[in-house]
Amino acid sequence: MPKNVLILHASPRLNGNSQTLAETFAAGAEAAGHWVSRISLAQAQISPCQACGYCRGHQHRCRLEDDMDKIYPAILGADCVALAAPLYFYDWPAQLKLAIDRLYAFGPEYSIRDKETVLLMTAADQNPQSFGGAEATYQLALVDYLRWRDRGRILVGGLNEAGAIEGHPALIDAYKLGYTI
Ligand SMILES: Cc1cc2nc3c(=O)[nH]c(=O)nc-3n(C[C@H](O)[C@H](O)[C@H](O)COP(=O)(O)O)c2cc1C
Repeated sequence: MPKNVLILHASPRLNGNSQTLAETFAAGAEAAGHWVSRISLAQAQISPCQACGYCRGHQHRCRLEDDMDKIYPAILGADCVALAAPLYFYDWPAQLKLAIDRLYAFGPEYSIRDKETVLLMTAADQNPQSFGGAEATYQLALVDYLRWRDRGRILVGGLNEAGAIEGHPALIDAYKLGYTI
């Protein structure tokens, strides 16, 4: 059955390494008949969660008015949410963290539990352990806490300049992951 796949991409460098990884994943998913939509978090205006608690008394509505107004329904409608981002200071980039913090509005019972998720990241560092912090957040926040089902992680080091990912074998993995999602 076709799935709604949402890609949240979080690099300000458009056509950079993480976008190529995400688009290759998308090409696989589309070839398998899934519907793919994309949101560039780097181009979105997203304020940080204010911990005001408004959402708790207002049917999960956030008091802030910004591009999360479009991102909330996109997440609600997705079967699979793919996070695509570069590694920044050994963690998620702020553009992604802002959006994920705002998922607090869906709590405390978190009606968005029935999702699948994928993590697609690139970094300059060759050491696979570089992704440890970002992966731990993904595991603890999305898989353990939100209970989204992890469908795969593609973490590619050794990519500094934009375009460095061209021809990398990880792109084959990304296509296959999209195709089998
Ligand atoms: C602000 C900033 C912080 C970065 N921090 C790291 C880092 O901690 N570790 C690392 O290996 N690469 C780091 N990088 C490099 C990027 O992760 C790498 O170039 C990545 O492939 C960029 O992906 P993109 O082309 O999709 O933006 C950093 C780059 C920037 C701009």
